[in-house]
Amino acid sequence: MNFARDKITVVGAGQVGTTVAQLCAYKNLGNVVLIDIVEGVPQGKALDLQESGCLQAFDSLVVGTNDYKDTADSDIVVITAGLPRKPGQSREDLLAINAKIVKSVTEEIMKYSSNPIIILVSNPLDAMVYLAKKVSNLPKTRIVGMAGVLDSARLRTFVSLELDCSLVDVDAMVLGGHGDSMVPMPRYTTVSGIPITELMNQDQIDRLVERTRKGGAEIVALLKNGSAFTAPGASVVKMVEAILHDKKRILPCTAYLEGEYGWSDIFFGVPVKMGIDGMEKIIELKLTDEETVALNKSAEEVKKTCDEVDALLKACGS
Ligand code: LAC
Repeated sequence: MNFARDKITVVGAGQVGTTVAQLCAYKNLGNVVLIDIVEGVPQGKALDLQESGCLQAFDSLVVGTNDYKDTADSDIVVITAGLPRKPGQSREDLLAINAKIVKSVTEEIMKYSSNPIIILVSNPLDAMVYLAKKVSNLPKTRIVGMAGVLDSARLRTFVSLELDCSLVDVDAMVLGGHGDSMVPMPRYTTVSGIPITELMNQDQIDRLVERTRKGGAEIVALLKNGSAFTAPGASVVKMVEAILHDKKRILPCTAYLEGEYGWSDIFFGVPVKMGIDGMEKIIELKLTDEETVALNKSAEEVKKTCDEVDALLKACGS
């Protein structure tokens, strides 16, 4: 294999993982390794994707495998492994089962890559990225979670539908944990620079905020079997691109806090600068009292799940 290009490993050949692999290949971001425990599936999906290369004009290598040796020296690792929600389940309901999976995946990754940048997608997101940091011991710049880009994309979509205006003019910011208490920020949600607070009434804003908070569940309820994957995959790839192309993008990501926003030792959705060194900087916004209350409520819920992770790690002697 020729891995002179950047090497992107995607763990989990389910819907999200396959979408990430496909978009990374289509954008020629690097060679892609798709790994899963199910035999044949990552190999089949990788071969199928590779065979689309001449049609989609990409020449990255795409390899499917069940062997972590093939992930050696990855530049970026995207962890999507774990169970998705079923209708009626919260992301937190997945904690115990997905913690086992994410722990073992992180251990395997770290055996073969000494200094990757890891992007977590598995749910409950904030707790899973916290777990992966504890297990990997990576510096906080090299481990982040994908949530804010997705939640903001959902809010952007709902704003453009509500105002019947082009999606490309809409920008949005969603902070906090990737749960029902996430904090969409209307003050920082704009259409061509105009805050939506000037374009909509409070009832409309409240409705869009609520729909954003429940955005993942809305899709789970429609699909009945599985959760969203296209927008989550595209959100991950936006982060991968920001890192590999050193774009210095300002994106809402799940980052490790050490005092920012008044919280420490949790992963939480905040605006960060993403570049070649990963999560290069956390941006602290001045919040209103109301925003602070909402953010603290979300942080308290995230903290509870991180405490559960600590208890699980302690129980297995880590
Ligand atoms: C969602 C999953 C990725 O929000 O958490 O759709």
